[in-house]
Order: sequence, then structure tokens, then C-alpha cells
Amino acid sequence: HAPDRVSIYEVSPRDGLQNEQNVVPLAQKRQLVEALVAAGVKRLEITSFVSPKWVPQLADAEELAREMRPPEGVTFSALCPNAKGLERALATGLSEIAVFMSASETHNQKNINKSIDRTLSVFSEIVPPAIEAGLRVRGYVSCVWGCPYEGPVSAERSVEITKKLLSLGCYQVSLGDTIGVGTPKQTRDIVLRCLDAMRVDQFALHLHDTRGTALANILVGLELGVRDFDASVGGLGGCPYAPGAAGNVATEDLVYMLHGMGIETGIDLDKLIEAGNVAERVLGRPLPGKVHKAGAFR
Ligand code: HMG
Ligand code: MG
Repeated sequence: HAPDRVSIYEVSPRDGLQNEQNVVPLAQKRQLVEALVAAGVKRLEITSFVSPKWVPQLADAEELAREMRPPEGVTFSALCPNAKGLERALATGLSEIAVFMSASETHNQKNINKSIDRTLSVFSEIVPPAIEAGLRVRGYVSCVWGCPYEGPVSAERSVEITKKLLSLGCYQVSLGDTIGVGTPKQTRDIVLRCLDAMRVDQFALHLHDTRGTALANILVGLELGVRDFDASVGGLGGCPYAPGAAGNVATEDLVYMLHGMGIETGIDLDKLIEAGNVAERVLGRPLPGKVHKAGAFR
């Protein structure tokens, strides 16, 4: 039974822009975020408090987070890998952060330069203080459907890590198909394991559409009752430390499908398409989203 309403968590300003060759100027990042908010997007990941040496594209995180105040009812979040990231986030007045790690040891090492165990211990030192300071904390587990370095990843292991992140105080953990390799039967298995281990609102699906299977996997999730999905306008995105990673499922494609199924999102598709056009202008290259290219149909 699919839900009546779905919550979309928009990642284009972060997952999208982190993977662009060119650094997008601050003013244009603002334009993108503003266009998304104008379309009715309520949850946005606007940047990352990671090392500017590792991700120079988001080196202006402080300025962006300080300059942009979310309107009532809208939440801005940002990635945060460690104590230094938390300190930076707190200084900007953001109300939410997201800690992130991988279910694959090699990807975790390449992406955040430490083992899974060490990462969990770093998170156990930053998540509770973040919550105490009034932040909401989301979590990510990457490579749940497969790893670019190790191949198959154990779903049991991913669920175990997810539970650990929840027990540290994350309100929700987003399961990442970082390199877009998932197929529906596998997604059903992963979602059923999650449903056995946690409440449905405690996990989200974060699917990159590298091989065109993201919407099929989302449909499987919807039919099992999942209500939280990450998406990126125009299909922007990819992890710089996951070779071959392409964009997330395009927000316009997801919204088009959901509205066609009678599922509410609170997002205005026409304005969302405009936000995709803003993203395309800002990047100066065509974006891959299908609805972005074809337009809405009614
Ligand atoms: P490290 O080099 O091991 O860090 O990097 P360190 O603790 O040894 O510190 C080294 C230097 O970095 C020090 O500076 C620190 O102050 C500085 P120095 O003394 O040399 O001048 N530093 C920082 N500076 C700013 N902000 C910080 C910070 N931390 C240390 N937070 C680190 C470790 C985690 C920082 C690094 O590996 C990193 O930044 N990684 C981030 C990589 C990343 O952003 N990847 C993409 C996002 S993940 C993703 O896309 C997947 C996702 O979308 C889900 C999915 O699709 O599956 C979320
Ligand atoms: Mg991602």
C-alpha cells in the first residue's frame, strides 16, 4: 500500500554541485536554492562542511549557510563528517546536519579516510552533542546496493550500520545506491529488512540513476510503504569518491510519477521544472532528467 504523501529531500545543491568540474559561484548557488524553495521543496541539503581540499566545490559552505535563511516550514541541512564539520555547522546557525558513511570498508576509506569502526566512534562523539545543541541529525549509509571497489555489499551489514546511526540519535537514515546499480528484487529485499528492523519513517532511499533503475526501485519502496525519498533537480549529482557515479533520480521525474499516482508532495511541478532550468543555466550544460527535457504532460 503506497502512502498518500511523500516527503522529498532535495540534494542537488550538495550532491549535485559537489561533483561538478567547475565551482559554481555563491550567488548562483543561492539562485538554485531559492528556485527550489519557490517550487515548494521543504527539505534541502544545501552544502557540506567537509574538507575544502577534498571537495573544493563546496568550500563556501559557511557563507552560503549564513546567507540563506530557510523560510518557515523549510529545513536546510548540510553534510558533516567530523567534529570540525560540526563546529563549522554550529557557527552558521543551520538547524540540521547529516552524518555520512559507507557500508563498504573501501568506499568509506576513500571517501572519508577512515575505517567504518573509526567512523562510528567519531559519530558517537558528534551526534549526541549536535542533538544537545538543538540540531536534528540525519544519517547516510552509502553503497548499500553495491560498491565501486568491492562489488556486492551485504544488506545485513547495511541494516546493522543503519541501526547504529539511529541509536546514536539520527532521526532518519538515508540508504544510498551511490553508483546506481540496484534492481527491484534487491530493493525489495533491502526495504523488507529495514521494515523488520525499524519504523518506516526512520529510513529513506537515496538512489542514483546511473543505470536507469531508480524510479523502478522507488516504486518498490512505495508499494512497501516507504515515504521518504532523496532526489536532485534535473538529475544532477554523483560522489567524487565513487568512480562512475552519476546523478540522483531527477526530482521532476519523481514528482511527475508520484503526482500521477495521486501521491502528494507539496511541490509545484511547473515551478520545479523552472528550478531545473535555473540549475541548467547555472551549470551551463544540459541536465539528464527526463521530465526536465520533455516537460510535464497534462
Ligand atoms: P582527513 O584528511 O583524514 O582529515 O579528511 P583530518 O582530520 O586528518 O584533518 C586534515 C586537515 O583537514 C586538517 O587541516 C583539518 O583541520 C582539516 P590542516 O591541519 O591540515 O590545515 N579538516 C577539515 N576542514 C574543514 N572541514 C572539516 C574538516 N575536517 C578536517 N570538516 C575528511 C577527513 C572527512 C575531512 C575528508 O575525508 C573529507 O572531507 N571527506 C568528504 C568527502 C565527501 O564530501 N564526499 C562526498 C560526499 S558523500 C556522498 O556523496 C554520498 C552520499 O550522497 C550518499 C550516497 O550517494 O550514497 C551522501
Ligand atoms: Mg549521493
